[in-house]
Amino acid sequence: MIQSRDQRIGEVILDLRNISLAFGGVKALTDISFDVREHEIRAIIGPNGAGKSSMLNVINGVYTPQEGSITLDGKRFTRMNPRRAAEAGIARTFQSLALFKGMSVLDNIMTGRNLRMTSGVLAQAFRLGSAEREEIRHREFVENIIDFLEIQAYRKVPVGRLPYGLQKRVDLGRALAMEPRILLLDEPMAGMNIEEKQDMSRFILDVNDEYGTTIVLIEHDMGVVMDISDRVVVLDYGKKIGDGTPDEVRNNPEVIRAYLGASN
Ligand SMILES: Nc1ncnc2c1ncn2[C@@H]1O[C@H](COP(=O)(O)OP(=O)(O)OP(=O)(O)O)[C@@H](O)[C@H]1O
Ligand SMILES: [Mg+2]
Repeated sequence: MIQSRDQRIGEVILDLRNISLAFGGVKALTDISFDVREHEIRAIIGPNGAGKSSMLNVINGVYTPQEGSITLDGKRFTRMNPRRAAEAGIARTFQSLALFKGMSVLDNIMTGRNLRMTSGVLAQAFRLGSAEREEIRHREFVENIIDFLEIQAYRKVPVGRLPYGLQKRVDLGRALAMEPRILLLDEPMAGMNIEEKQDMSRFILDVNDEYGTTIVLIEHDMGVVMDISDRVVVLDYGKKIGDGTPDEVRNNPEVIRAYLGASN
């Protein structure tokens, strides 16, 4: 039986409370609270400079907010750090791509496995057998991701030679290689044409459906946001001005005034 998307959504797994973050005099985030439920696709929208990317950097521990707390699976943190976030299964993609342009698609996605590799250099020297087996397991995992993302034809191609839309797909693959429970996507469709956006939307929905991955998505294309997200939080000048289902947000007068405008 096919479950409706609503039935799949579970308990709150990530809860952000009263987060404030400033860089010197610049208030990037002011008293932001929202939660993320298991299996949902949670969008963050808002104008340029609203604080969206900063919010993702708070969630994955790259920025430490001056105020507020993060509760992950019921455990409350006043500060996250990147390693703890990664170990807790939080992975992200980047607004400006952070891939190794000269390395192949396969090797780039392989870098996402690093945290999961137990064999270091010494183990590789002294216990070659098991290190080799581990390497083979990781390669198989990465090959499955490559199949899933339909980029088999480019496995050996240096990433820098691929069109932008495919580079974004490789970046998604690198994040998926971490086997994330929570995937943070910072404008995964920026700079894409309509067809590439449709492909990326489908991959995001498939990741969410097939792996049950919870997704926090920053995106400017309102068509995409309204299509694929379960709930949307709206930021403007570092403040939260809306939070709800796509329909609720679309009809919220403050959101229309600050961001969506009359055309939406
Ligand atoms: N590392 C930093 N140092 C100083 N200021 C920063 C830093 N990161 C972000 N800011 C500032 O914080 C504010 C929010 O920036 P942020 O990148 O989070 O916005 P955004 O919503 O992601 O915007 P965009 O849609 O353009 O990507 C901006 O005023 C920005 O200049
Ligand atoms: Mg941003």
